Amino acid sequence: MILAANLKTNLTREKTNKYVKELEKFLSGSKSAQEVLVFPATSSLDKFSTSAIIGAQNAYLAQNGAFTGEIGLEHLEEFDIKTILIGHSERRHILGETQEFLAKKFAFYMSHGFKIIYCIGEPLSVREAGHERMMEYISAQYEGIDTEYKNLIIAYEPVWAIGTGLTPTLEEIENIHKELKKKSPAPILYGGSVKVTNAKEVLELQNVDGILVGSAALYLEHFCSMISYADEIEKLAGEK
Ligand code: 13P
Repeated sequence: MILAANLKTNLTREKTNKYVKELEKFLSGSKSAQEVLVFPATSSLDKFSTSAIIGAQNAYLAQNGAFTGEIGLEHLEEFDIKTILIGHSERRHILGETQEFLAKKFAFYMSHGFKIIYCIGEPLSVREAGHERMMEYISAQYEGIDTEYKNLIIAYEPVWAIGTGLTPTLEEIENIHKELKKKSPAPILYGGSVKVTNAKEVLELQNVDGILVGSAALYLEHFCSMISYADEIEKLAGEK
C-alpha cells in the first residue's frame, strides 16, 4: 500500500531532518513493505538518506525563471526529487490554482517522468447538492489530466474532511473509490482526517490503495502505526 505524509506548512528544516531520520529508523527496523512518501515544506527539502520517497508539495512548471516565490524543476533535481503533489485542495482553493493551470503543471511534470500524486475532492456545498452534482464536480477535476499516466497516483480528499476531524462513512469512501477506479487505472489514496484511530479501517477498504495524511502524520509515531497497520493487513491477506 501507499502511505503518504503531507507535512504542509509545518516542520522546519531541522525538525524535518529529525522526522525523516526517525522514520528511516522505523522503516529499516520494521522492514516494512509499504511505499512510504513524505512531502516536506519546500524550504525543508534536501537529499535525505531514507527508503521513503521524498516529494515536493509544489513547484512551478518551469526549469527556472522569473516566477517570484516559486521553485522550479532544477530546484527539485538538485535533491533528486522526482515526486510531486498536484491539485491539492489548499492550492486550488487558497492559492487559486485553476484546473487549466493544474493540467499544464501536470503535463510539465509528467513530461519529466515525475511520480504525480494528483488530488481531487469536493467541497461541502457540492456534496450536499447530491451525488450527481458531486461526480460532475469531481469529473471536471480530471479535465486535461492524462489518467493513463503510468506514474500517476490519485488522492481523493473531500475538502470538508481536510483538517476537520470529519470523514465520509467507510461505505461512502468505498463507493466513491469504486467509481473513481472507472476513470483511471491509477492507485487511489484516501485523504481527509485520517487518524491513527481510523486508518486501519480505511486501509482495509476495497479500492483504497493507501492514505494521504496531513495533521496526524506530524506525530511520527502515529504515522508509523499506520504503516504497521498496512503491513498487518497485507500479512493477513497473504495468509488467506
Ligand atoms: P488532514 O489529514 O489534516 O485532514 O489533511 C489531509 C490532507 O490534506 C493531506 O493532503
